[in-house]
Amino acid sequence: MSELDALFEAARAIQARAYTPYSRFKVGAAVVTPDGQVFSGCNVENAAYPQGACAETGAISAMIAGGGSRIAAILVIGDGANLVTPCGGCRQRIREFAAPDTPVHIAGPEGVRRSFTLDELLPFSFGPENLRDG
Ligand code: THU
Repeated sequence: MSELDALFEAARAIQARAYTPYSRFKVGAAVVTPDGQVFSGCNVENAAYPQGACAETGAISAMIAGGGSRIAAILVIGDGANLVTPCGGCRQRIREFAAPDTPVHIAGPEGVRRSFTLDELLPFSFGPENLRDG
């Protein structure tokens, strides 16, 4: 199985577990580390709406908890006709662990619909390097 297929399958599997009683919009996300480990997450909503968490956030938490530290690629899957591109907050969360050319694949149930680089989604971004001198 290709790495992209593994990402898709992991994201699709966890999408089904999303907790979405309010939006009914289930999202799955999967990241792969440079050494090929895959971690996934789903959105988890809350009766206090702003406390809900996106799927990407869950996948990144799983990566860190599992000992990973870099995102080599990420895939996000959602239903519906439109692209489920990461929200602004999640673009910044991805950016912490990724590079400008890191692929961000956006999928629907039928497969990958479009692929971006992180830099396309979050140009001129602020990251750990910006906190250091020179
Ligand atoms: N959502 C994600 O989990 N990831 C995205 O990239 C876009 C939006 C979730 C948040 C909320 O639970 C639901 O989708 C509707 O916004």
